[in-house]
Amino acid sequence: TVVPVVLAGGLGTRLWPLSRASRPKQFLTFAGPLSLFQSTLARVDDARYTPPVVVTNSEYRFVAGEQAAEIGCRLESVLLEPVARNTAAAIAAAAVHVARRFGDDAVLHVLPSDHQIRADESYWRAVDEAILAAAMGQLVTFGIQPTHPETGFGYIKSDAQVGGAARAVTQFIEKPEASRAAKLIADGGYFWNSGMFMMGAGCFLAEAEKLAPAIHEAALGAVSSASEDVDFVRLGENAFMAAPSISVDYAIFEKTDRAAVVAVDFSWSDLGSWDAVWKSGTHDGASNVARGPVTLSGVSSSLVISDHAHVAVSDLEDVTVIATNDAVYVGRLSLTQRVGDIVDQLRAQA
Ligand code: GDD
Ligand code: MG
Repeated sequence: TVVPVVLAGGLGTRLWPLSRASRPKQFLTFAGPLSLFQSTLARVDDARYTPPVVVTNSEYRFVAGEQAAEIGCRLESVLLEPVARNTAAAIAAAAVHVARRFGDDAVLHVLPSDHQIRADESYWRAVDEAILAAAMGQLVTFGIQPTHPETGFGYIKSDAQVGGAARAVTQFIEKPEASRAAKLIADGGYFWNSGMFMMGAGCFLAEAEKLAPAIHEAALGAVSSASEDVDFVRLGENAFMAAPSISVDYAIFEKTDRAAVVAVDFSWSDLGSWDAVWKSGTHDGASNVARGPVTLSGVSSSLVISDHAHVAVSDLEDVTVIATNDAVYVGRLSLTQRVGDIVDQLRAQA
């Protein structure tokens, strides 16, 4: 049994102001008719899988339910987190839930809900290799060929053995500093972590118990004390709140010696910044990506998105302009991480 576990509880703050706490990135539409969350559900509508388990914050229960219904997707269950405790706790709770429903041997395919992926033949080949390796007790990551010293990703080093199936991971470095990322790229032989995982529910929980016991305990408690109705499984609040807030990359993958990596070469973007949105968009002759009621003159290498108001820009290069109903962001596209400073300031003011 392979159970898709869709993580849909992040805030997507790096895409402010389009992505808001009330409606984060995964529930937005970037290309085509489906939101990123809906594309993720559509991708796992496949004979390999049971219906998906969605793990999200209690605040997003309606938007998640509505978006699934809109595309006629039947969900196995929706686990609701009373508070956000990052991905380690979310995945651990899902693993406990799946192990109880389908047994320890059930394999979880953990998927971010906010990536743009083209599921071609090479994607499915990697998935099948990962399922085999997970069934043999490995915690499998999917390795993307890196192109630049990105600091927002995990870096994976594997055994030299090339080709075929999963290789053992020898080193996992989550979100290195800029100088270290540059060194890893220069050294070569590293993959980027795609953010998807394939692992047996029981195997993952055994590693969690060993490497992150507080999270393991919180997940067990939260599922045991959960209240279930027709639509939702509400994780027990007291137990879940006790979980440390840490991502699965730091809590488990940097530490475990059971990690493996399957190399992948499908088209992938995590849309993790305005720069990534620009890269994955359709460019005009001057390398601009524009969406909505937008007029450009003498503009190049820029990203201009408007939800509503007509936005006109002239004689600028390398800018990001994002205009929504109630907020406008203007910044330099190549300094794309700066929006984080703005969001921090806004939080401090709030
Ligand atoms: N349910 C739930 N609860 N989901 C969450 C939570 C939470 O508290 N926090 C984040 N998520 C969801 C996000 O919505 C996203 O779909 C996924 O989990 C990953 O979280 P991110 O916050 O986007 O992680 P990241 O992008 O910083 O880093 C991860 O992805 C990179 C690739 O995009 C790591 O796995 C990196 O190693 C990896 O390179
Ligand atoms: Mg991400």
